[in-house]
Amino acid sequence: MLAEKRILLIIGGGIAAYKSLSLIRLLRQAGVAVTPVLTRAGAEFVTPLSVSALAGEKVHSALFDLTDEAEMGHIQLSRVADLVVVAPATADLMAKLAQGRAEDLASTLLLATDTPVLVAPAMNVRMWEHPATQRNLTVLRGDGVGFIGPNDGEMACGEFGPGRMAEPEEIFAAIQAALGDKVMAGKHVIVTSGPTHEPIDPVRYIANRSSGAQGTAMAEALRDLGARVTFVTGPSSVPPPQGVEVVKVETAAQMLVAVEAALPADAAVMAAAVADWRVENAGAQKMKKDASGQVPALKFTENPDILAQLCRSVRRPALVVGFAAETEKVVEHATAKRLRKGCDWIVANDVSAQTGIMGGTENAIVLITDAGAETWPRMRKDAVARALADRIAQTLLAR
Ligand code: CTP
Repeated sequence: MLAEKRILLIIGGGIAAYKSLSLIRLLRQAGVAVTPVLTRAGAEFVTPLSVSALAGEKVHSALFDLTDEAEMGHIQLSRVADLVVVAPATADLMAKLAQGRAEDLASTLLLATDTPVLVAPAMNVRMWEHPATQRNLTVLRGDGVGFIGPNDGEMACGEFGPGRMAEPEEIFAAIQAALGDKVMAGKHVIVTSGPTHEPIDPVRYIANRSSGAQGTAMAEALRDLGARVTFVTGPSSVPPPQGVEVVKVETAAQMLVAVEAALPADAAVMAAAVADWRVENAGAQKMKKDASGQVPALKFTENPDILAQLCRSVRRPALVVGFAAETEKVVEHATAKRLRKGCDWIVANDVSAQTGIMGGTENAIVLITDAGAETWPRMRKDAVARALADRIAQTLLAR
């Protein structure tokens, strides 16, 4: 899908321009063609040679380049792409775009283009927060311009706050979302994510190390394919995705209620690391230390198995995907789990501490279906999610 697309990438001035080189590499690796445009200020930070070497194409920089005008006029150049991306976008470039000025090649292309535009701003925090920039942002959003970032963080100038350009991976994901085919339009998918917290008393709880990263990435990937996503999440350490319906819960019992309330659905992706047990004798008040030195004995009771209940339900979605967190005999345990729980697929992974998967950014999965076990190479969690979302889409559309 992405492989036949072309991006017109405008690289503005700013220290973040070096990150646009990584973005070009990510795009090229995905088979996306990149037509690079370097502003005069951009060329102060990265050289035309490094840009063209990575893009594998000529860099355009001057508005009145006679050779360019003969080969390709600026109007034509503005139309060659499926998407125009400005990364980094300075305050000045945003102002020019908001006012419709055509002073140099970049602003002229932005005015002349009839393709969607995605902007990744990068500037000092005061410049970003200035009413003029915020006004321009509102105007541009109203004009249908898409934005990714800026992120919060420490900036090259030493100040802290919003203004850092989004990371190349985030810009790449936004490009993918903007260009992707909406093959899941009209489909509803429930995604569970994160750990659950099971109270011991009002201030203490039992939890696990799940960050919610894989479930969040799944929800984003399905959303990007056009699905309506209900995202039922326990207390995760990563923020929930934009553009999906977020239902926040704490306990397994609450998660079950939220999943049932979200039905009917075409598919369910149960990525949550649900606690198997809850404390039966949880205190209504904070447990206090006993003067005699006696330690409390917690009594556990089993939580409902949300996945198994959903699979047995009369309102079972057509495709139910479970996850299996294992620390040994991954394929054997996950294969048995698929049959025991009655789901269509199990996404199994080895979460032993040395793999760094639980709480990390990468995942190495084995996909268990009725056809057997497929071992996937270790990839970033968002790449795993995109590949799984594509497989879910193909499966639902084939039915
Ligand atoms: N799951 C669930 N409800 C539970 C426990 C697990 O819905 N009470 C779901 C998880 O969301 C996941 C799958 O079941 O999709 C497997 O979770 P996992 O923790 O690997 O399996 P368990 O059932 O807990 O099995 P075990 O602890 O014996 O490995």
